[in-house]
Amino acid sequence: MFVENTHPDYRAPLDAVDRETLGPGATDRVARVLAQRTNDGSTPLQALPALARELGLGALHVKDEASRLGLGSFKALGGAYAVIVLVLEEAARRLGRGVDVVELRSADVRAVAATLTFACATDGNHGRSVAQGAAFVGAKSVVFVHAGVSDERVAAIARFGAEMVRVAGNYDDSVAEAARVAEQRGWTIVSDTSWPGYERIPGLVMQGYTLMVREALAQMPSPPTHVFVQAGVGGVAAAVAGHLALLSGDKRPRFVVVDPARAACLYESAKANAPVRIAHGEPTVMAMLECYEPSRVAWRVLSRVADGFMTVDEEDAIAIMRRLAKPAGDDPAIVSGESGGVGLAGLVKSCGDRELRQQLGLDAAARVLVFNTEGATDPKQYEALVGLPPAQVLARR
Ligand SMILES: Cc1ncc(COP(=O)(O)O)c(C=O)c1O
Repeated sequence: MFVENTHPDYRAPLDAVDRETLGPGATDRVARVLAQRTNDGSTPLQALPALARELGLGALHVKDEASRLGLGSFKALGGAYAVIVLVLEEAARRLGRGVDVVELRSADVRAVAATLTFACATDGNHGRSVAQGAAFVGAKSVVFVHAGVSDERVAAIARFGAEMVRVAGNYDDSVAEAARVAEQRGWTIVSDTSWPGYERIPGLVMQGYTLMVREALAQMPSPPTHVFVQAGVGGVAAAVAGHLALLSGDKRPRFVVVDPARAACLYESAKANAPVRIAHGEPTVMAMLECYEPSRVAWRVLSRVADGFMTVDEEDAIAIMRRLAKPAGDDPAIVSGESGGVGLAGLVKSCGDRELRQQLGLDAAARVLVFNTEGATDPKQYEALVGLPPAQVLARR
């Protein structure tokens, strides 16, 4: 359930390209680009002192991404940001001059954007971000979803004017179909996962995520000693861990990557010391984390800067949703979707294991940071699992 990082590159410096993608200068650009959007305020950081006491920790903070850019998850930072940067670059190329982000609403730039189509495959949240980014700049979007994506999630993407394409099979089938059709039609694929030969755009998506780390550090009373982040393909974990490593060097917090046991591609890669593709098993309730192969860029970063990799079970994820909805003491209620609290579930599981707790130094001096990566992005499913509709949970605050 937990493995330490034993990769030969562990603690080696990041490659120049990853330093450029995830460093503080990149985050400045993200902030500048996203400032053009409405709802661009930072998300709240919630302290959970009662849960910290219960777990024997000094402090516990949750960066709550449920309200990010009005889209329900941190993914709002990645896909939409990448779309905007790609439009600015294409406009600069066609107009033969530098194009600043403040020109996004100019007729020249919008005329370029109107000729572009951005495509992606998604479990839900990434597609919503790409579609919203395309709508914002005046470009088209086509979003491929597999058979398991709920109608509610599809409707939430289509709301931004995206053309939706249902693909038979699983997430991997939707990724392959999106790539095939995009190649044929000359569309730009904006994927949140990377593969050999396709790294730059997923790198931009990860770059967008670094903004939530900057915000969290500014909101925390003192820097974290530990960070737990959940993983699908590993993009967000790598963005958070890589950014922290570039900011703090050897003083960076301990970093643990948390996978669902039923889709543990990062955990299995850590055991093999190489990125591995795992077999499809039973679906997991942590729907957004159901990925079977790590993103190559994410793996390259995590193999150097993650300290450990672990798995949590279905019931761990559900228990955390309920705990956050109905907290103890004065802790605020937090609406956390099925994949949102999985980093925290990893922390709770680690604290419940005496040996692991000691190994990780999870004691009264520990200040832990986790990310609630989504709110109730599928409200029906949320109510079925928690027993309360999201609005009622928020009303308890
Ligand atoms: C809510 C939520 N949390 C975490 C993740 C994991 O992100 P990544 O695939 O970059 O590891 C996702 C991915 O879609 C997500 O939607």
